[in-house]
Amino acid sequence: MSIEINEKEQLFALHTPETSYVVGIADGLYAGHVYYGKRLRHASGAYLMRTGQHPFIPSALKREKGTFMSVFPFAYPTQGVGDYRTPALQVRNSRGMRGCELHYTGYRIDAGKPALEGLPATFAKEGEASTLTLFLADEVIGLEAELRFTCFEDLDAITRSVVLKNTSGEPLYLEKVLSFSMETDNAEHFELLSLSGTWARERNIIRSRLDRGIYSVGSVRGESSQQENPFTALVSPDCCEDRGIALGVHFVYSGNFIAEAEITENDMVRLNMGIHPGGFSWKLEPGASFTAPEVVSVYSCEGLGKMSRTFHDLYREHLIRSPWLKRERPILINNWEATYFNFNTEKLISIAREAKKCGIEMLVMDDGWFGRRDSDASSLGDWFVNEEKLPGGLKVLADRVNEIGLKFGIWMEPEMVSPDSELYRAHPDWAIRQPGRDPVQFREQYVLDITRREVRDYVYEQVSSILKSANIAYVKWDMNRYLADMGSLGLDADRQGEQMHRYTLAVYELQERMLAEFPDLLLENCSSGGARFDPGMLYYSPQIWCSDDMDVAERLFIQEGTALCYPLSCIGAHVGASPNHTTGRVAPFITRGHAALSGTFGYELDVTKLSEEEKALIPGQCADYHRFHHLAADGDYYRVASYRENREYDAWMSVSKDKREALVTFIQVLNRPNFRSYRIFLKGLDPEAVYRLEESGSDGGSLKLSGDRIPGDVLMYGGLLIPRLPGDLKSRLIYLVKE
Ligand code: GLA
Repeated sequence: MSIEINEKEQLFALHTPETSYVVGIADGLYAGHVYYGKRLRHASGAYLMRTGQHPFIPSALKREKGTFMSVFPFAYPTQGVGDYRTPALQVRNSRGMRGCELHYTGYRIDAGKPALEGLPATFAKEGEASTLTLFLADEVIGLEAELRFTCFEDLDAITRSVVLKNTSGEPLYLEKVLSFSMETDNAEHFELLSLSGTWARERNIIRSRLDRGIYSVGSVRGESSQQENPFTALVSPDCCEDRGIALGVHFVYSGNFIAEAEITENDMVRLNMGIHPGGFSWKLEPGASFTAPEVVSVYSCEGLGKMSRTFHDLYREHLIRSPWLKRERPILINNWEATYFNFNTEKLISIAREAKKCGIEMLVMDDGWFGRRDSDASSLGDWFVNEEKLPGGLKVLADRVNEIGLKFGIWMEPEMVSPDSELYRAHPDWAIRQPGRDPVQFREQYVLDITRREVRDYVYEQVSSILKSANIAYVKWDMNRYLADMGSLGLDADRQGEQMHRYTLAVYELQERMLAEFPDLLLENCSSGGARFDPGMLYYSPQIWCSDDMDVAERLFIQEGTALCYPLSCIGAHVGASPNHTTGRVAPFITRGHAALSGTFGYELDVTKLSEEEKALIPGQCADYHRFHHLAADGDYYRVASYRENREYDAWMSVSKDKREALVTFIQVLNRPNFRSYRIFLKGLDPEAVYRLEESGSDGGSLKLSGDRIPGDVLMYGGLLIPRLPGDLKSRLIYLVKE
């Protein structure tokens, strides 16, 4: 059991192998944050709450508690009673008054980790994790709060979530309910790292200096979003891959979120994360409970690399449930950028035949196969086959694809409806809208109000009947717009603020139902590329489409940011066409293949139009995927060099857990005049072993490595020399195996 209680000092310590998270009770009443950092031997350090330095403790002061309320590092800060920092909880009572003060009433410790009803969350069996629950209550308004903290036995990860219960006889209105909050001295002068972007440029790493005030990132778009990912890290200014402090927090949720870092008047830093309060309000009836989704936190004092590897292990072992997690995924070819909406059975069959010859294993039919969908202007919601394109329907096509020897998968966008669709003409009131106002369209579509049971059931039946109609092995579940014009005919006036959260819960329910009915289905979530790339989605799908941008140079930024907290095995990555459809940039086929190998791997181009030379490279790339997949999927990820930082080249590697094998990917983005070769320092190898190096499928001249034997310590401390290659966007894939 890794939870330790110090009764005398009223402290609770959650110990992981190398970290400790300590909370304490001050004055017998107030839950405070004490410490989060390197592992402590014992639950101690109550003085870090500074309750003894000044008569801040209300009982010692025997006067008023204002000063205390305004400076105490609350473990779950509230609003309205003297704390002026940004709160985690804001409550309005039925008289319209805002104010809440939570007092400690007790604790409980459980082996394992309780599930969060209706919500995705990390899971752990008894022996793998322990959970501390602190019970707090505000007797004045009649609110109970359960603060849950879980620590994992073999991983340096802590999770937090909150359950609120109305114990009064009147409704309460929750206006801000975050899941994570901690406040600590800013002696480290933390910076805030976030993953920011836009369409086709998701999850680029941004580091911002924190100064007095509140710095926040978030989404109010109804999905986790391309603009900001629900991940942030406090990092010390010296933090790099291998050194410095990185304290990452990640929200296991797919809707609106906020992460806030406030530097207070006393140079403390308060870090909050949870559901975005913008537009949010939740009516809590007497006796009812509200569960706030989970936040995962990871502390590393060995830089970002260690933090990344902990998140990767946690998600692979304790979040992704799919039976596909550890399996090799079929190498797919998706027809989106090959044909867009312009295809028919014969075109798809010609792609499938050619793909099969090259060693590809699954055909995915993207958007455009249903209703009268010849552009993005119509037919979402009309989930019946367009027989002009696909005579005989899905079964005929799927069977023919199967006969060729490929699996078959499809694209769907179940949450949406086009104004020009039979569904919308029949049920205009099913679209999210406000009476009297024309709802805003994005990509010429509306969002279905799946918070309503009848709409949700209808959507589910559509999905289920499509999946039953043919041999469909894979679904790409897309979501191509933000939510707006919030208003639901299914909710009373004082519940309209619940719609965004209920929408996210409805998506979870739909995917849960689908996976219960089709347990072996390979599900890939998607949202205009990677706008719903978050740990919540990983609970349902083992992979998520990372970005519509397959341009290698842009992908280096996107995949670096994504891999900061998401395992490579979940990053949807394909070899796209050249020139690239988004940037127009030209890149060698080999380099495109090497970049995609660090993800789920597949193709998104018209294989029938490739040159013979390019086509001839595919079987080797497919073989590389099968040969090296286990390294990317199960290994430890190390970032070796960053094009974002050096503007010249990028390199990363995956090392097997037993350090027997490793795979290094090196991409020379820009060839800059220099007679010297590159020198990269490998990581994570066994310093006492000798590795045999072998190069796979590179162009532009051999490294002359094949058969080379180099000791692990030399590769790590002396480095590996990589000659410059003529031209830009050239790459190397280097396999290392212990002698
Ligand atoms: C989104 C996805 C693309 C493709 C299109 C189809 O943009 O990200 O991969 O599926 O929709 O409309």
